[in-house]
Amino acid sequence: MAKHDLDPNYLDPNYEPVVNHTENTPFHQALSARMQRRTVMKGSVGAALASVMGLGLAGCGSDSNDGTTSSNVSSTDIGFKAVPTSTANEVVVPEGYSTEAFLPWGTPITGSYPAYKPDGTNTGAEQEQQMGMHHDGVHFFPIDLKAGGNSSSEGLLVMNHEYINQGALHANGATYVNDMRPADEVRKEIAAHGVSVVHIKRDTNGKWDIVFGSPFNRRITGNTEMDIRGPVRGYSKLITKYSPDATETRGTLNNCAMGPTPWGTYLAAEENWHGYFANGDATQPREQTRHGVGSSSRYDWELADSAADQYVRFNVSTIGATAADDYRNEANTYGYMVEIDPFTPESKPQKCTALGRFGHEGVIFAPAKEGEPVVCYSGDDSRFEYIYKFVSSKPYYAATAGGYLLDEGTLYVARFNDDGSGDWLSLDLDDADFAAKVAAAEGTQVGDVQFDGFENQADVLLNTRLAADIAGATPMDRPEWGAVDPNSGQVYFTLTNNSRRTEEQVNAANPNANNRTGHIIRWSEEGNDHTATSFDWDIFVFAGEQGTETVVDDEVIVSLTDDNIFNSPDGLWFDYNGRLWIQTDGSDAAPYQNNMMLAANPETREIRRFFVGPVGCEVTGVVSTPDVKTMFVNIQHPDGNWPDSSDPRPRDATVIVTKDDGDVIGA
Ligand code: FEO
Ligand code: CA
Ligand code: CA
Repeated sequence: MAKHDLDPNYLDPNYEPVVNHTENTPFHQALSARMQRRTVMKGSVGAALASVMGLGLAGCGSDSNDGTTSSNVSSTDIGFKAVPTSTANEVVVPEGYSTEAFLPWGTPITGSYPAYKPDGTNTGAEQEQQMGMHHDGVHFFPIDLKAGGNSSSEGLLVMNHEYINQGALHANGATYVNDMRPADEVRKEIAAHGVSVVHIKRDTNGKWDIVFGSPFNRRITGNTEMDIRGPVRGYSKLITKYSPDATETRGTLNNCAMGPTPWGTYLAAEENWHGYFANGDATQPREQTRHGVGSSSRYDWELADSAADQYVRFNVSTIGATAADDYRNEANTYGYMVEIDPFTPESKPQKCTALGRFGHEGVIFAPAKEGEPVVCYSGDDSRFEYIYKFVSSKPYYAATAGGYLLDEGTLYVARFNDDGSGDWLSLDLDDADFAAKVAAAEGTQVGDVQFDGFENQADVLLNTRLAADIAGATPMDRPEWGAVDPNSGQVYFTLTNNSRRTEEQVNAANPNANNRTGHIIRWSEEGNDHTATSFDWDIFVFAGEQGTETVVDDEVIVSLTDDNIFNSPDGLWFDYNGRLWIQTDGSDAAPYQNNMMLAANPETREIRRFFVGPVGCEVTGVVSTPDVKTMFVNIQHPDGNWPDSSDPRPRDATVIVTKDDGDVIGA
């Protein structure tokens, strides 16, 4: 395949094509006059829910959960002085806190521990043993977790490597010879993606380091063998030359956020995977068009100068006689949540298809309850896409829980009604309402798709976005991370921005046309039962410049100031005491300047800026030790020579944050 003209947007790391061309604006027509007035007001919330949400917060201020040792912290108050915005090429934190860059891209973590070479000449094989690039979602698993422990001094730090900077990765950037790419460059790029598992330990001086030689240290890359699990396993539309029985694939890519499971494994999300595949056919199947697979790929891996099918597979054109002779279906093996067991280094990652196939930003589990279903939430980060919930068929029992709980269950998609209520719409063909909608849609045009039905539930899950279109879900302003308040049980999601939303397309949950700065939505499930099929929502805060207001019942609850202006909320995490941490992924422009992380008290909605990253970066991925005394914050795609000014290459890295007096962070 010749090198096609690249869509210039593919060079934009935040590029997500608009591929939802349905007209889902549920209940928009039913807006009351009052609601219409409210929804066009800048910074107003769509619904009068303060009383409902107040009830939902009744549990706030309770003792720390999860058996953390931070019993000296019994509230979600914020105890530090806000830091100002910054344009510095360094990390800024409040007085009394210290930071240190840790595990930068290229750090050797396994195998023969090949040293990082600052001239970009590490090979593909070496990159397979080093930290990947573009650190993103991260979780700390206490080393004694499986034995019921809660160590805050030793654990497995597991993190995603979302994508790459080819200019920094190679000695001379991406190269081409006769329109083909040297295979080892491609091998290195594939290896710089994926997930790292790093066994880390704090010494008696409080310094964290890698446990060299630990059997837990591991790299999972864009080429690691994986199983297809759940309802889509074995489905004919996943047949490839590599897996004629449609049960396996290789690699996970564009892993953005993640979610730790209640049984101590890690789920990595596959977000903008569509950009890695190229399809030169005259027409594409709906499994690709609804995601934006193009005729050329972001990094041209399909143009590797090698016939090895680890590279050929990125060309998803129809080439062979049957699907078992080519990789026309390879893209159908991407778009899932991938379960990785960090405590079992020899385990094969599992693609969990029951959670749906879309641009998974991440996943967040509701607290697991003995004998009840497991529930988790996942956003689809693209403009006008949806928020989903999975409820397992089988009950959770701590003693036996495992990935099998994610194999069977019901996938729902959210409809945010303009009156502040919400409904979870089943995407199960056994659900009468959904089956009726599918039947009614057959033979019609759904967005860009001429809909000719679903073969079975595997086909529904493979085409989750299309199923959600048909169900009548609410198109959102790019759902990114979610988080569940450990005190109230409320679920929060960032809606990062959506500059394409027009005045005609606003709804109460996404009330701003040309939404450039984003907002954070939250909801309470009916009866505080995460398996419920209805909920009540409100908007926690609108991001924006000084004076941006969040209004509830005509009362200004939040008005942003120099201490907390922010733009494009993305990463979101409740710490173990119940403080909410908000990370941003906006442009570096004034008045916001470099991207940042803020802390919020969910009870009072007080928000303060805690951390500002270096120039050009996105601040994404945050977790702490169980005692909340060491925090790990990821810095992705810095553009200056950060963190080492003597190194010509920027290096994504994890920033370790501690409080100088050894106390709880944020308190
Ligand atoms: Fe990878 Fe939606 O951020
Ligand atoms: Ca993100
Ligand atoms: Ca983002």
